[in-house]
Amino acid sequence: MTFRDIEVRPVTPIIGAEIGGIDLSRPLTNRQTREIHDALMAHQVLFFRDQEVTLDQLKGFGRLFGDLHLHPHAKSPDAHPEILRIHADENSVQIAGDRWHSDVSCDAEPPMGSVLHLHTVPPVGGDTLFASMYAAYDALSDRMKACLEGMTAIHDGGPAYRERDRRVGADESRVYPRAEHPVIRTHPVTGRKAIFVNPVFTVEIVGVPKVESEGLLRLLHEHNAQPHWQCRFRWQKNSVAFWDNRCTQHIAMWDYYPQVRSGHRVTIGGDRPI
Ligand code: SIN
Repeated sequence: MTFRDIEVRPVTPIIGAEIGGIDLSRPLTNRQTREIHDALMAHQVLFFRDQEVTLDQLKGFGRLFGDLHLHPHAKSPDAHPEILRIHADENSVQIAGDRWHSDVSCDAEPPMGSVLHLHTVPPVGGDTLFASMYAAYDALSDRMKACLEGMTAIHDGGPAYRERDRRVGADESRVYPRAEHPVIRTHPVTGRKAIFVNPVFTVEIVGVPKVESEGLLRLLHEHNAQPHWQCRFRWQKNSVAFWDNRCTQHIAMWDYYPQVRSGHRVTIGGDRPI
């Protein structure tokens, strides 16, 4: 794939690319937008450096790729319900995203992508790891692929979000989304297959005994978390990451306590997985 209006530097052969030659605070041309989308389809997660963007500019960038998604458990700044604040400091008892997951996979139509901008980073630490669920699928044996084909799983926001509510003393009686999705999904743009279960939201595989469901999920979570299909992003002030939730999972490291790490995320709506 060749790019004319952006620079694309892969960070591993499997997943991740740094994007240069672009200023996200300025309106993008149709060609720049198309090339960013093409790069995302090819590399699954994109990293941008030195992007000083306002909340409106972050939302505007997200909207180039779809309608913005409203998070069911969000802490949003006033007047910006589409923004999810990502923040940790010396008073934090938890952080967002500290277990492998694909964002809000409990929604009936889980988000296609997320764009995170960090304006404050710790001196060291606070990296985010991303894993390619295409590569994880490709590495399964043909027998395991055949076994998983056609299976579905329940993704439930309740357990994870209520546990977070409990830890901060918030109302634990809220109702969160719950949905049934294929265990192996086909990406609507690339046509590639990806494993679509994660330890935060996936609670059971449908139609098999509990012991098989638990065993299969444990196996898949362990398989998905192998380093062979990961990249690790070291944030700097004003870095931006844009990831495709349909074919990746990510995990945020909280190794910097009591330092501050802070920024904002927009999440882009998606389709019902097939
Ligand atoms: C998330 O969106 O899951 C948080 C990612 C991060 O803070 O690096």
